[in-house]
Amino acid sequence: MGAMQQWLREQSTVRARRGTVRNTTARNTTVRNAAAGDSAARDTLLDLASNDYLGLSIDPRLQAAAIDAIGRFGTGARASRVVTGTQPVHAELEAELCRLTGQPAALAFSSGYAANLGILTALGGPGTLIVRDEHCHASLIDGARLSRSPVEVFTHGDLAALDRLLASRSQPRAVVVVESIYSVLGDAADLRETARICAKHDTLLVVDEAHGIGVAGGGRGAVHAAGLAGAEHVVLTATLSKALGAQGGAALGPAALRAHLVNTARSFIFDTGLAPAAAAAAAEACRIIAADPSLAQAVLGNAAIIAHVCGIEQAAGAVQSVPVGRAEDAAQLAVRLEEAGVLVGCFRPPSVPDGISRLRLTARADLAPEQVWHAAGLVAGMVAALEAGTPVPVGGIDAAMHLGRVGAR
Ligand SMILES: Cc1ncc(COP(=O)(O)O)c(C=O)c1O
Repeated sequence: MGAMQQWLREQSTVRARRGTVRNTTARNTTVRNAAAGDSAARDTLLDLASNDYLGLSIDPRLQAAAIDAIGRFGTGARASRVVTGTQPVHAELEAELCRLTGQPAALAFSSGYAANLGILTALGGPGTLIVRDEHCHASLIDGARLSRSPVEVFTHGDLAALDRLLASRSQPRAVVVVESIYSVLGDAADLRETARICAKHDTLLVVDEAHGIGVAGGGRGAVHAAGLAGAEHVVLTATLSKALGAQGGAALGPAALRAHLVNTARSFIFDTGLAPAAAAAAAEACRIIAADPSLAQAVLGNAAIIAHVCGIEQAAGAVQSVPVGRAEDAAQLAVRLEEAGVLVGCFRPPSVPDGISRLRLTARADLAPEQVWHAAGLVAGMVAALEAGTPVPVGGIDAAMHLGRVGAR
């Protein structure tokens, strides 16, 4: 066996021992059909693991917009946006993103990951210090690394530490990177105070709104809710693949930032443009969210139920995170819950910054509160049994699915 093959085998054994094996198994999670009374959907899982916070990925209005865009522009963008890949649907999407978030200009990328790589590499370099919160998403960490900037990391949420780092910098420019709602723990950044510190030190603040848009501020995001939309020193990135129910990403801020990204962001220039169907679906999602703040309220209402039933403090966004402890226990509970009909996320090291493994439960606007009560109850029961060392209860989600059929939006 070659050295590489040997190493791959060893790595696989280590993952299995640590309980950190990931897989790409397809799952049948068409919950909306079950909620609508489709008996063929009886066997589907109740999905509390996805990021489709508003249930828009299966909304007929988004599907119609995507199909129409395919008819008009084709199934692919065919080239980089700076060659021939820009279609009118990209301009439409960027305008809708601006309208939703209150930002002056937007640039769509092919993913949120690409947007984060693009903005940090385009703003960074030896003359720019990048200072980021320790809980930042992998795409922000990678963007900072790739930028060739000096990088400082501050303890999660420690704004006094941020202030000190900026005060002692030697670089002429600095960029601070935070998430509006953090992806694992679901807690919110103090954006007003962070922006104030950034202004004091003549620093640009980049806020990743991946988990904020569609959920915070009635759907317009946490930057808008903090009264910072349009502030010259606050820019944001977004994904189109969570609350917006589509695929892709964006960077938003002043027109000068957009122009700089078009000309220098490698993950924009050397990447095929966002597929027209995804752009059209996301544009439609922006219109729906802007017109209906009750969607965001429904997410937070269901999040409150999960937090209450599981006995945890409610996190700021859709994602509620239930500490379990050992990675193997978290993985085992996720499997048992799936057997019982509920799909939950499972965060294990190295994804969890503090090393405590967690079940990750996502509140969705399109689930009936009764469904969420039942599913969260199942989770709470299993976690309690694990903690007490008693047998983990077996039982299905049928009752919840039934109630869902009656009561889902
Ligand atoms: C905070 C954060 N930023 C960026 C991303 C990447 O977005 P995308 O999935 O569109 O690449 C994610 C999601 O995975 C995320 O949670």
